[in-house]
Amino acid sequence: MGHREIPAEIERVLLDEATIRVRVRELAAQISADYAEINDLVLVGVLKGAFVFLSDLARNLTVPHEVDFIALSSYNKGVVSTGAVRLIMDTRSSVTGRNVLIVEDILDTGYTLDYLFRAFQARKPTSLRTCVFVSKPDRHQVKVPIDYLGFEVPDEWLVGYGLDYADRFRTLPYIGVLEREVYETEG
Ligand code: PRP
Repeated sequence: MGHREIPAEIERVLLDEATIRVRVRELAAQISADYAEINDLVLVGVLKGAFVFLSDLARNLTVPHEVDFIALSSYNKGVVSTGAVRLIMDTRSSVTGRNVLIVEDILDTGYTLDYLFRAFQARKPTSLRTCVFVSKPDRHQVKVPIDYLGFEVPDEWLVGYGLDYADRFRTLPYIGVLEREVYETEG
């Protein structure tokens, strides 16, 4: 294993690689048990952020599953947010009559998952559940059901493991806290 330097912009590591690996395996085991009798599970990852978590989660599942993706327009996440979300890329396959698990890297305000949950519910899947790697309870604006949760995390700017700052740091193998001065001076 090579030794990767932690970038100077990272104030501290919140969830290290080993911690993430253990939790992802636990979630995958739980999901595999819950869907043991199901053979049409569809994992729907929300781009871009979810691709890292989804990749690790899916490869630890022991039940058959299909992987699909959607993309959303990001709304203005400034101080005043309308929470308006729009689907800009849909799944390749139809989810009607199938068992759908929406996979997200983070639940912040909840607007995204709330929108997605309603949008997918309208398509009449056989079942619809959500799997979120990290959730910031202090930031929630709407109540959204989370069926599988990795960790609750504090309200700080997190990067890595799919999470980005202006598309940077997304593929760090751990979740780190971004130095305040990065987004306070560059932003
Ligand atoms: C992030 C994340 C969720 C959403 C959560 O995506 O992946 O989809 O924000 O925030 P919310 O609960 O406040 O709605 P982002 O819009 O940053 O896009 P990205 O995944 O492409 O970086």
